[in-house]
Amino acid sequence: MIDLHSHLLPGVDDGSRSVEQSVGVLTRMAAAGITDIVLTPHLDASRVLEGPPPEHDEAFAALSPLIPSGIRVHRGAEIMLDRALTPRVVATRRVTLGGSRYVLVEFTRLVASRAATTALHQVVKAGLVPLVAHPERYQVCSPAQVRQWRDLGALIQVDANTLFAASGRGDRARQLVGQGLADVLAADNHGDVRTLADPFRRLVEAGHEEVAQVLMVANPAAILADQPTEQVEACEITMPLFQRLKGWLGELKE
Ligand SMILES: [Fe+2]
Repeated sequence: MIDLHSHLLPGVDDGSRSVEQSVGVLTRMAAAGITDIVLTPHLDASRVLEGPPPEHDEAFAALSPLIPSGIRVHRGAEIMLDRALTPRVVATRRVTLGGSRYVLVEFTRLVASRAATTALHQVVKAGLVPLVAHPERYQVCSPAQVRQWRDLGALIQVDANTLFAASGRGDRARQLVGQGLADVLAADNHGDVRTLADPFRRLVEAGHEEVAQVLMVANPAAILADQPTEQVEACEITMPLFQRLKGWLGELKE
């Protein structure tokens, strides 16, 4: 499995706090069958002029010699699209996923549909492919909205562990994957225990091994190789009613 979204560059954002913590997570991921992972620390587009800030390079230099065997670590960023990417950022590809044409992007939770659509269109026009991180978090998320983003050239990354969550967010994630509107599943690990292994197993158990393969192996591999991704088949992902009720009750209490 290949995970394109993680916060394991130590001490630079709200993810892993130390080199030791990152090495621990990477060791567990390698044991769980993750062959490649991209480090995608948060970066605001308005603060990136050309590439990652020096503290990111320093953190990577500290982690590099200690990366456990069995897992390859690539660099990238999760870019908050609070303004357009500069031509230098586009040209150098230093904050894209492994230096490819694909760039992981996010918005604030309450982003307006039009602002998000315009921002994604700008990235596409500049010559990169935006991979929208966890759209199920956004208030404007719906299958129709996501279909519009895909039509203008964006790809969609649903959170792998939300896919089986009994919550409104989980329902939206299942709708997107169910309708073939997701291109990639990623774990978005923040120095914790989340990996792709559990969602992969649950999709296989639900009879969707081919879908799991494309979302967590073939498409992430294509992105890292700077190749086109493939369309994922629609599939029905259901949750037992009692689990959904439990989730909804939990959300009401929050
Ligand atoms: Fe993230």
